[in-house]
Amino acid sequence: MRDIEGNYRALLAVTNALNSQRDTDGLWRVIIEQIKKVVPWERAGVTLYSAESDSFRFYVVETSMPTRVLQRDAVIPRAGSAVGWVYEHRRVHVRPDLTRERLFVEDDFFAQEGLGRMINLPLLVHDTCLGTLNIGSVQTGYPDVEDMEFLEQVASQIAFAIDHVQAYEQINRLREELARENEYLVEEIKLTHNFGTMVGKSVALRQVLMLAQAVGPTSTAALITGETGTGKELLARAIHELSPRRHKAFIRVNCAALLIGLVESELFGHERGAFTGADQCRLGRFELANGGTLFLDEISEMPLETQAKLLRVLEDGQVDRVGSSQSNQVDVRIIAATNADLVAAIGTGRFRADLFYRLHVFPIVIPPLRDRPEDIPLLARHFLEYFQSKLKRPRLDFGAQVMDRLVRYTWPGNVRELQNMIERAVILARSSTIVIDDQFLMPPSALAKADATDNLHELERLHILQMLDRTMWRIYGPDGAAAQLGLNPSTLRSRLKRLGLKRPVHLASI
Ligand SMILES: Nc1ncnc2c1ncn2[C@@H]1O[C@H](COP(=O)(O)OP(=O)(O)OP(=O)(O)O)[C@@H](O)[C@H]1O
Ligand SMILES: [Mg+2]
Repeated sequence: MRDIEGNYRALLAVTNALNSQRDTDGLWRVIIEQIKKVVPWERAGVTLYSAESDSFRFYVVETSMPTRVLQRDAVIPRAGSAVGWVYEHRRVHVRPDLTRERLFVEDDFFAQEGLGRMINLPLLVHDTCLGTLNIGSVQTGYPDVEDMEFLEQVASQIAFAIDHVQAYEQINRLREELARENEYLVEEIKLTHNFGTMVGKSVALRQVLMLAQAVGPTSTAALITGETGTGKELLARAIHELSPRRHKAFIRVNCAALLIGLVESELFGHERGAFTGADQCRLGRFELANGGTLFLDEISEMPLETQAKLLRVLEDGQVDRVGSSQSNQVDVRIIAATNADLVAAIGTGRFRADLFYRLHVFPIVIPPLRDRPEDIPLLARHFLEYFQSKLKRPRLDFGAQVMDRLVRYTWPGNVRELQNMIERAVILARSSTIVIDDQFLMPPSALAKADATDNLHELERLHILQMLDRTMWRIYGPDGAAAQLGLNPSTLRSRLKRLGLKRPVHLASI
């Protein structure tokens, strides 16, 4: 084929070209260009072995034959194939005449393509065989010994180049993953006060903790409900800590804070170039939580479309990055939380019933603080100690009456309100006794009234909204919302203003 010096020069050129590649697609192209220059062939292919499926896949096929049977992405099993033989023996295999003898599963296909000879070479990196280089030609017969030696050297260079590119790509992937995780963790540290475990000894709280202990070690989805500040997030973290997943990430997604339009990329990630501005591939929260727990906070606020996508992920564990046709399998435990009434949200069409049932497998309700007053002194002392040491204050204590008032107060903001109140009291403390200003502890009756008015407003708002929905926001006329509600249209208009209700944009022209 060529002299020894020529061979060396050609090989050096191949090596240099291969080594300059940084991604697999570029590498495949260069492999074809280079081996075209150095060996005559009609068909060249590269397969890589996958241990997972115990088979080989064609990553490159370049042929000048009019008939093509084994194309790119074709998969060949290890058993019974020539590539399998080469993989097992770590040696070249040559079939000199496919028209006469076809030993392996691929050979019939190659013969159909019109090939006479097939040479399969192992792609070896030290003792590992990555796959094969396959060179087919119309000509039959054994190749020269020098040509074979040369081909083996080319195969060896290709193997090292593939190995480098794969390592390089993996490093990049890990680097991206780390950067994202790091970014997320910094965010997370800023967000969380970690008070450790859940404090309380009431029967109600103990029941909650018992449920957490039961579900913790499993991978079952949990749905935590409870008023604001009752400790839903704290409990979600406790469940994660009780699971074998505790060494993996606990990733929180605040569904209410997701940016519209970016929800999916946030949850499922995106490929580079998936949309304007997506200049890097990004891992979604699902992938970040792989092996760990994904905490979907304020789940009731998730947009309906996203709910549908989430449901699909929960059903088959497959995540599709935005802009990618390939799905990634993830193993994620879901814990959802909300202070909203999801059943009511299903009634008004704002929450999907099928998603609800998927999440409702293991519901845990955290009772409000006013229903477990025994926990108040414990929590108050716990927070007092915490803030005392955090703010480096000398020893402080509650006066007898203070604790009494704390226990009788109704705590609409629950544990968080108590925590904030104690922090404020510690900052303001002028002596060794904690005082709490009356203005912070509204008497229960005033509060109940405020609650009732709030509820009334909410009821009115819902009623008006339902009517507007039914009339497609038509206000005037006998079929309009005002008439249905028994209101003067101008009264309805001012009420809408007071309640902050606006006609949705897509109905603006009606
Ligand atoms: N049993 C408890 N023991 C100790 N700290 C608690 C307990 N319950 C709640 N907390 C603390 O109270 C604060 C509020 O809790 P958390 O954020 O978990 O509430 P939430 O139910 O998620 O509230 P929201 O509905 O407003 O999101 C946190 O700082 C949390 O550490
Ligand atoms: Mg919360």
